[in-house]
Amino acid sequence: MTRLVAVSNRVAQPNTDSKSAGGLAVGVLAALEEYGGIWFGWNGKTTQGEPGDPKLDQVGNITYATIELNERSFELYYNGFSNTSLWPVCHYLLGYFRYDHREYDEYRRVNALFARKLLPLLRPSDIIWVHDYHLIPLASELRRAGIKNPIGFFLHVPFPDIEVLRVLPVYTQLLRCLCTYDLVGFHTQSDLRSFNEALSQDEFGGITLADRRRPSSDQLVHTGVFPIGIDVDDCQQLAQVAHLEDKTRRMVRNLRDRDLIISVDRLDYSKGLEARFRAVERLFENYPANRNQVSFIQIAPTTRAGVRGYTDIRHALEQATGEINAEFADIDWAPIRYLNRAFDRGTIMGFFHEAAVGLVTPVRDGMNLVAKEFVASQDPKDPGVLVLSNLAGAAQELTDAVLVNPYDIDGVADGIHRALRMPLGERKERYDSMIAVLRKNDITAWRTRFVDTLIAAHEHVRLVS
Ligand code: F6P
Repeated sequence: MTRLVAVSNRVAQPNTDSKSAGGLAVGVLAALEEYGGIWFGWNGKTTQGEPGDPKLDQVGNITYATIELNERSFELYYNGFSNTSLWPVCHYLLGYFRYDHREYDEYRRVNALFARKLLPLLRPSDIIWVHDYHLIPLASELRRAGIKNPIGFFLHVPFPDIEVLRVLPVYTQLLRCLCTYDLVGFHTQSDLRSFNEALSQDEFGGITLADRRRPSSDQLVHTGVFPIGIDVDDCQQLAQVAHLEDKTRRMVRNLRDRDLIISVDRLDYSKGLEARFRAVERLFENYPANRNQVSFIQIAPTTRAGVRGYTDIRHALEQATGEINAEFADIDWAPIRYLNRAFDRGTIMGFFHEAAVGLVTPVRDGMNLVAKEFVASQDPKDPGVLVLSNLAGAAQELTDAVLVNPYDIDGVADGIHRALRMPLGERKERYDSMIAVLRKNDITAWRTRFVDTLIAAHEHVRLVS
């Protein structure tokens, strides 16, 4: 029987803190539940010695196969090359970029380790689906070890323009690694375009036609656009249940009939949080009628605490919250509530259901599923409005959101004000159009299209080689 073997840096194991489950985790889990198989990756813990064999936990039709990471690997591979070189490059944020060849060497070593630990678990009929920027070289390691199975790769972050990618001294090696997959998938057409342009830059990068062919085949790497989606019904049900629950009711009581603007993000500099806080401040400056009528809640749990840029953003937000509240607060109202902690998904959907505005303004994002979840959680008869960054992948699908440029503080304030004043008829029209897109490109469409395309791509290579 065909099994799906999903490989990602982090595995969201059951009975652990599922609050932190991001888009990748929700999507991978749904795919595995459908096909059955293995989810292989890091368990989030570190060890001083070398990691042992994978720990196997069977839950239903899924085997969670997890390993620890050596402390040095965590520092150099995860905090280092993955999150201080690749992450800033993929998000066009070169102010946070640093390159150190020791970190890249460890990145390659950890990918080789992942391949070694995964090998004994594989069967010839498995379909292997590798996720995200931490694991670009994994297919080349598996192929070197003789694995002939279909291997696909999906990039959950943006693929940068070649002019940005070129700051990475090892970018041609990574491009060659990507070409060893049967299929490489992206969220958007622009990511795919950037990838193709990078591959065609022969004169700079030295990527030859031969590099773009898979080993032992004359075929160029197959690529595709597969925008990740959500389970719309699941979000709606979670919102329905949660909006009646104690936490949501307490939050609503506290609003005292004021409109709610809500944002939920990992505490990450790519999410544009500081500029967003300043846009809320500008809303109260430019449109004083909103003072004491609107409350902004930002939920932002800490992530990647070992990476410098992430500590800085935390301090910047604490300072901005203090300044804005000091300037505008009244005896019965604080304009901003900044919660530096995680809530479970259900509670978040309940909060979304109550909000007049969902404010999602990353300065760059592969997709941003929070934007999609906000829309899905709305009451169709009285929906809130999504204010969305035009630099998030989701903006290419959710064109009926109020689209803003996250760097334009006044423009974002205008967008929020417009959303707060939007008549019911227009809100419903925008909601109807966006929910139709969400249903068409939902989580099932994402995984089915990717897996079907991967099988076809692999079959094609097998036949012609
Ligand atoms: O956005 C990229 C991504 O890998 C998501 O898919 C995931 O939810 C998130 O980052 C989590 O990052 P980390 O594992 O570093 O906490």
